[in-house]
Amino acid sequence: MDNRNIKNKKDNTETMTNLLPPSKRSDMPTFRALDILSKVNELDAAGQDIRRLGAGQPCFGAPQPTLDYAAQILRDDPRQGYTESIGMPSLRARISRYYSDYYAADLPPEQLVITSGSSCGFIIALISAFDAGDKVAVVTPTYPAYRNFLKALNVEVIEIEGQAENNYQPSIELLEKCEEKFDGLIINSPGNPTGSMIDEDELIRICQWCDAKGVRLISDEAYHGITYETKAATVLKYSSNAIVLNTFSKYFAMTGWRLGWVALPENLTDRGKKLAENFFVSAPTISQHVAYKVFDHLDMLDEYVTLYKRNRDILCSELPKAGLPVFTHADGAFYVYADISELSNNSIDFCARMLEEAQVSTTPGIDFDLTRGHTSIRICYADSTKNIIEACERLKNWQL
Ligand SMILES: Cc1ncc(COP(=O)(O)O)c(C=O)c1O
Repeated sequence: MDNRNIKNKKDNTETMTNLLPPSKRSDMPTFRALDILSKVNELDAAGQDIRRLGAGQPCFGAPQPTLDYAAQILRDDPRQGYTESIGMPSLRARISRYYSDYYAADLPPEQLVITSGSSCGFIIALISAFDAGDKVAVVTPTYPAYRNFLKALNVEVIEIEGQAENNYQPSIELLEKCEEKFDGLIINSPGNPTGSMIDEDELIRICQWCDAKGVRLISDEAYHGITYETKAATVLKYSSNAIVLNTFSKYFAMTGWRLGWVALPENLTDRGKKLAENFFVSAPTISQHVAYKVFDHLDMLDEYVTLYKRNRDILCSELPKAGLPVFTHADGAFYVYADISELSNNSIDFCARMLEEAQVSTTPGIDFDLTRGHTSIRICYADSTKNIIEACERLKNWQL
């Protein structure tokens, strides 16, 4: 137990206090990408000119007409009270229409819960699907919060090492090879940190495999819309047991508005609603209005995607010249994953030095892959092309 001398504010005397320990399940590693973001904000405030390739967020805001709409909503309804716990009916209906237009998929609005970022959607998805002691598999490298959400819920995490030949994504072969049985599988295509995708035929096979084995498939479709060669398919078309997570943070460029959604199978919707009511009450009201409007401006968002593709191409050709070969199947999202094994075996130290010496922020691979991430880094290119070119120049001139 942690014994500290604490000053009693009233009489300024010192008393001995026993601090009670935190829970075991809240013991999780720090999210380095966000620590780096704080550090970069500090350096920026101190006048340094950092190229920001660390945090995974677009440097552009939501389309201007949606911001004008937000201003109008705030003028007309300054109260901004709670919405329905599962989200405004108009927004759920609009998302449902989007599934029909974009994917030709049927998603009734009743199966949707609007959440504060997909991060809160994950809490709803995982609690409605799993109990403590269940096992859920992820394929590494992977978005780190999955592991930490699961551990905090006392769900055992099975980490399956992704292979380069499968673009670090799951395949039936890889799943079959896993000796442990699991109750759930989380997939993310296009994936963070590699930007790689599961092709549609393999996705169909994975859906069928999961349904046949009684494995609950959780598909994080956060980067759908940001794809360069082929459009991503949603698992909703291929499994009635799968849960889909999505967000307004990435393609829709509304990161700080903190809005996402979870699409639940029919028999989980009531659970999802009760979890949303009790845990979150409702997602931010103003953000839901803006999200409703953003669907009228998809053409502007697609222009961002064109720019991301240009940035990806520049990085894939320039980074190897800086000694940073990249994993080349970066077909979506806005990340490339680079191999630093020729330069360092400590990605944390490497990223810290790069920030200090070259003034370029990136994220250490150890965030995404606990066993192999010492020799890789993630580079986010959701920035202007000018800044991406400048970052490449800095890295090429950086003397390690
Ligand atoms: C794969 C993936 N899923 C989920 C999230 C969480 O996003 P948000 O809570 O902003 O919706 C992120 C954020 O970087 C992500 O990369």
